[in-house]
Amino acid sequence: MKKITIAIDGHSSCGKSTMAKELARKVGYVYVDTGAMYRAVTLYALRHNLFAADGAVLEVALREAMPQIDIDQRLVDGKTTTFLNGENVEREIRGLEVSNHVSPIAAIPFVRTALVAQQQKMGREGGIVMDGRDIGTTVFPNAELKIFVTASAEVRAQRRYDELQQKGMPADYADILKNVQERDYIDSHREVSPLRQADDALLLDNSHMTIDEQNVWLMEQFEKATK
Ligand code: DC
Repeated sequence: MKKITIAIDGHSSCGKSTMAKELARKVGYVYVDTGAMYRAVTLYALRHNLFAADGAVLEVALREAMPQIDIDQRLVDGKTTTFLNGENVEREIRGLEVSNHVSPIAAIPFVRTALVAQQQKMGREGGIVMDGRDIGTTVFPNAELKIFVTASAEVRAQRRYDELQQKGMPADYADILKNVQERDYIDSHREVSPLRQADDALLLDNSHMTIDEQNVWLMEQFEKATK
């Protein structure tokens, strides 16, 4: 059977990566979490003091540093894990500090150009499930299956809160909700590749769906797309 390209885009914390990973596992495709790549660049910038006191990115310094930022995703104990210059940073990139700084990094054109080129290279052969914000619109505009996932901001904040609690990481619901709303705004209003549903993407609002229900729905779409 021909291996297709699957683009899963949508708002933050709407369970995109959970469903994308599960689909990739079931059908034996490679899974790529592109949000983790923007988060890894953000972590690099935080560690190298590339943010001004007002939160602006020191773009000249970051541009110079880009060739030294190597991001790689590998399976560790069966889980997709992000490495920054060889160091496992999976846990650190999920914390609130990175979450609070990632949007301005993801809005910088030279960062997007570099990461999009890497993503296109990873997906050259098909057989890939990639999740992000611009996969169906910019990275793989010809993907055979495109899904745009959303859920209400409150539902998404609650899910992120539960996830952090489960991992024993500090979490405050009001802070998280604010972060989700701010990121929605910045992601959909930035100049380069703003978050938007591709014309040919299928819309999935999972506010009132269980994970199992959405996995079943996604599998049905996969079967239709590969028939
Ligand atoms: O999916 P996430 O929350 O891990 O994404 C982190 C940030 O990166 C989020 O603010 C949106 C941005 N992002 C992006 O601009 N383009 C992508 N393809 C993936 C993520």
